[in-house]
Amino acid sequence: MREYDTKDGVMLIGGVPATDIAEEFGTPVYVTDADLVRENYRSIHGAFNRHLPTRVHYACKANTNLAVLRLLQKEGSHIDAVSIGEVLTCVKARFDPGKILYTGTNVTDSEMEALLEAGCRINVDSESQLERLARITTDVPLSFRVTPGVASGHGAKVMTGGKGSKFGIPMDRIVGCYARANELGFRVDGLHAHTGSGGNSIEPFIDVAYVLCDLANEIEDKVGIKLDWIDIGGGFGVPYRPHEPALDLDELAIAVTNVVKEESSVGELAIEPGRYVVCDTTVLLARCVDVKDAGPKKYVGVDAGMNTLMRPSLYDSYHHVALANKMHRACVAKYDVVGQICESGDILARDRVLPDPRAGDLLAVYCAGAYSFSMSNEYNSRPRCAEVMVIDGRAELTRAAEPIEDLWRHQTIPEALG
Ligand SMILES: Cc1ncc(COP(=O)(O)O)c(C=O)c1O
Repeated sequence: MREYDTKDGVMLIGGVPATDIAEEFGTPVYVTDADLVRENYRSIHGAFNRHLPTRVHYACKANTNLAVLRLLQKEGSHIDAVSIGEVLTCVKARFDPGKILYTGTNVTDSEMEALLEAGCRINVDSESQLERLARITTDVPLSFRVTPGVASGHGAKVMTGGKGSKFGIPMDRIVGCYARANELGFRVDGLHAHTGSGGNSIEPFIDVAYVLCDLANEIEDKVGIKLDWIDIGGGFGVPYRPHEPALDLDELAIAVTNVVKEESSVGELAIEPGRYVVCDTTVLLARCVDVKDAGPKKYVGVDAGMNTLMRPSLYDSYHHVALANKMHRACVAKYDVVGQICESGDILARDRVLPDPRAGDLLAVYCAGAYSFSMSNEYNSRPRCAEVMVIDGRAELTRAAEPIEDLWRHQTIPEALG
């Protein structure tokens, strides 16, 4: 987990005091340090590309903030997208549509038409999707997502690559898909798999590389298609806890690229990191509004909750927390950090020692750059909060907090109800 610099006991984000940011933009607010996004992108791209030409397709489901996307576009990133909304958001951030690989599941014909119109690449997830796409056009390059029989991830809800998964085409039918695509007149040049999200061991990446290389060889032998690239997906875990060891990216990259070089004649690798690129670049700042001693439990109540950051309630995920205005004070007691949502599961952090929290203190939730704002919602009719980016030592608003009117902007009351 990344530690933050401090000055006079206050957390600094990209050199700017967290307390100033909260004062200027209000709370809750997500704050991203642009330098860290750049650093993470370069580190994962470099780790692989040193050994084998590698495209990074940033998995934008992790964070679709336009400023983050634009920064990554300038770094030369490609994109992994899962909806037409993500594709068009990336185009808005000036990504060349040709650099966007769309990997959807249960994709409708109308979505495929919109994707083709947008000009992105389609990675096919099922045999039916292939046939339906062929009825629209065969004049596009294709790739397929295979279910590799390898699963990884921080929990069962995010493991996608195991046998029987809803994602991808089963291994024993994938070669047939390349033959069928050939017959239909498509040009097929790649093969993709994704094992899951947030895993912290390197073995699944090596295993999936073997699976993809073997399949690429089989496709060449049986169908005569020589693939240009394979894509091992994303899922590179990051440490959420202090002192938790990080994935050894260099070891992972060397192992995976060795497999690809030794076991196949594929010349290019693609990877799809989401979490790795953005997770530790962002903190969520929330104001402490109430401190309650409920007998067996003590609570710090803040102005954010499971609507702002869903991961703790959805996955039981751990996010480190600290008081951004009391960084060096001794911690005295244990608290649960809870939000404003009317659910007892609305707990951002359980049993954390904090330095005498008081109303008005500023809570920082660490590692809030991935699957955090992008999963936020308006439950309990609380509009989504603002996002800020610190760039060149200046904090700038990149998304305004939603106005309360947004809650009913798209609703209508039928005339019959008066
Ligand atoms: C196809 C695909 N690629 C990449 C990713 C990114 O995973 P992560 O953010 O763990 O790197 C996901 C996440 O769900 C995915 O489904």
